[in-house]
Amino acid sequence: MRRKVVAGNWKMNKGLKDSTALVQEIIQKNNSFNCDVYVAPAFPFLNEVSVVSSSSQIKVLAQNVSSKSNGAFTGEVSVDMLKSINIKSVIIGHSERRMLFGEDDKTLKMKLENCFKNDMEVFFCIGEKLDMREKGMQNDVIENQLENTLFDIDNVNLEKLIIAYEPVWAIGTGVNANSDQVQEIHCHIRKLLNFRYGKESSDLIPIIYGGSLKPDNSRNIFNCSDVDGGLVGGASLNSETFIKIIDSI
Ligand code: PGA
Repeated sequence: MRRKVVAGNWKMNKGLKDSTALVQEIIQKNNSFNCDVYVAPAFPFLNEVSVVSSSSQIKVLAQNVSSKSNGAFTGEVSVDMLKSINIKSVIIGHSERRMLFGEDDKTLKMKLENCFKNDMEVFFCIGEKLDMREKGMQNDVIENQLENTLFDIDNVNLEKLIIAYEPVWAIGTGVNANSDQVQEIHCHIRKLLNFRYGKESSDLIPIIYGGSLKPDNSRNIFNCSDVDGGLVGGASLNSETFIKIIDSI
């Protein structure tokens, strides 16, 4: 059976005190989840959040990482730096990184290669923009995003891969994709993974949904047969709503 995963992406929110307080609250309110739970604080607070959550079920996830190993790259954070504070998982290809910071497929492919080479677990985000959804081209977008990056890499550690389907039009907008739309595209992604990696190994890759997940829509979405969890933005900034989403899986 595929593992279930719910991750909270805090983005550029919450300073040191609020970050540690939030993870403490989550642990105090519920310390026995029936899925793998991750939180992704901002870079400067990864270590503190990781220390606070070390004896709990919660794993700590970085929101980004450099494609380079080390050297004169001002403002970048390397895989080794993350590993030195015991961070073993990272989000790659979030649409905000792609759109606001110009990360293209070439860069994302290098980041993926760097992560797999260094045994990092990767949450790889893919998803179409509204205009492509309106033209009915969401499957083509997804296919291209995968072909140009992940599928073009030879040594992918499939056990360290989670795909996050995040339609750009649903991120931070309050408009979530409905469960039929989510199931349809997750099923398509699963077929693409099966075709590329063979059914046996790719069937174990979790495919999670992200985009305006809330306690009142998560159950329906998580009930879809090809949905293995969620990547939660806004609703993960509050312990109560985040726990409700986790519990709905
Ligand atoms: P949202 O963000 O839940 O606020 O829509 C999701 C994400 O960006 O991963």
